[in-house]
Amino acid sequence: MLLKIEGLTKIFGGITAAKDICCQVNEGNIFALIGPNGAGKTTIFNLITGMLKPDGGTIAIDGKELIGLKPYQIAAAGITRTFQNLQLFGDMTVLENVITGAYLKGKTGFIKSMLPLPGKSREDLRIKEEARALLKDIGLEKAAGIPAATLPFGQQRLLEIARAMASGPRLLLLDEPAAGLNSMETKELAGYLMQLRSQGLTMLLIEHDVETVMEVADRIMVLNFGCAICEGTPAEIQRDPAVIKAYLGEDGNVA
Ligand SMILES: Nc1ncnc2c1ncn2[C@@H]1O[C@H](COP(=O)(O)OP(=O)(O)O)[C@@H](O)[C@H]1O
Ligand SMILES: [Mg+2]
Repeated sequence: MLLKIEGLTKIFGGITAAKDICCQVNEGNIFALIGPNGAGKTTIFNLITGMLKPDGGTIAIDGKELIGLKPYQIAAAGITRTFQNLQLFGDMTVLENVITGAYLKGKTGFIKSMLPLPGKSREDLRIKEEARALLKDIGLEKAAGIPAATLPFGQQRLLEIARAMASGPRLLLLDEPAAGLNSMETKELAGYLMQLRSQGLTMLLIEHDVETVMEVADRIMVLNFGCAICEGTPAEIQRDPAVIKAYLGEDGNVA
């Protein structure tokens, strides 16, 4: 088991955004969080990455407690995320975008990398090679030199994930990566996530597209008003009465 969450709770004013959340994520799994808008999915990501402090509970990676650590310390522990809204550097090239991800873990450091210091060139070369390999995985090696903003939206999404991969994460958190993608782009994204899993990467996935979630996730947690109403394999989720009630309404019709 890579990630263990117990009793995680977050209250904003009168709203309980996460209530007593518990889950365990095995290494090399895709674990999905689904549920309607406002269910508390992004809040859980913000708690894991240290952007929010919980009101209760524990989060451990490899048995190491994360609560109380600063976001940069959590990143250093190998936890990387992408955001619900794209956060690429549009004017920078496709390759440069991936390279910025690598400097999150590099010995060189981002500022130092801007300066003409001796001893950084070999590291730079290695990072560039790794970045090109990541672009190859998403079929963008030919686009390496063009500004990221000129890519079609679906490719920008893949690029954002490739950039996150450049930091060499152990756990990758993806917040609605298929938002705004057409069905072909969504299939391509799903293929990339499964490829990353086959390389041993562990992922937490927030996704509205239920078909994609059912296809790629090993386990799914369904959230509603901050509570986990069900957790299990895609097949278990699909036949859970509480999920059917929350998604389909009492009478079984789509709400
Ligand atoms: N920083 C915040 N301050 C106050 N309320 C917040 C904050 N972040 C989220 N919330 C509230 O917590 C609830 C869960 O939000 P969120 O985690 O973003 O849901 P989801 O990602 O499932 O759509 C919502 O009611 C939202 O308005
Ligand atoms: Mg959200």
